[in-house]
Amino acid sequence: MAEKRNIFLVGPMGAGKSTIGRHLAQMLHLEFFDSDQEIEQRTGADIAWVFDVEGEEGFRVREAKVIEDLSEKQGIVLATGGGSVESKDVRNCLSARGIVVYLETTIDKQVARTQRDKRRPLLQVDDPRQVLIDLSDKRNPMYEEIADVVVRTDEQSAKVVAHQIIEKL
Ligand code: S3P
Repeated sequence: MAEKRNIFLVGPMGAGKSTIGRHLAQMLHLEFFDSDQEIEQRTGADIAWVFDVEGEEGFRVREAKVIEDLSEKQGIVLATGGGSVESKDVRNCLSARGIVVYLETTIDKQVARTQRDKRRPLLQVDDPRQVLIDLSDKRNPMYEEIADVVVRTDEQSAKVVAHQIIEKL
């Protein structure tokens, strides 16, 4: 990469955005950010608390603000929350300010990787698999709409996927 561009990772819960993003940032000597972590730092509380107290709507407002702020930087890798692309403003912001990498995976992998994770209040239900299926029906077209690069994350390790992304940049 000639100049320090931004790389934004989008995709569903359990796609591996944070793990792959850390590898990618290290390999490219870029700074890594995670929108969920940034929300937790700014609020001084965890994602579950934000959902409890402010609802999903409140969480989305915080998420959009964090993405708006962080994407202004240069030379970062940002792992975005899986639902952030539901906002047209967020989609526009990501498209305009960096390379959008869509991490695709299977529902089975998502289920396996998201078990017992408190940072995913949407999955604290009897049938998390059905929630993941419904969300992917709704959101996959949105990820595809803004993706500059698409990479599968269900077959290779996070490090290998990070290398594959670099080859496609
Ligand atoms: C969400 C995904 C989570 C987190 C929150 C809501 C979603 O992030 O932002 O629980 O709506 O898909 P990850 O995609 O990093 O799991």
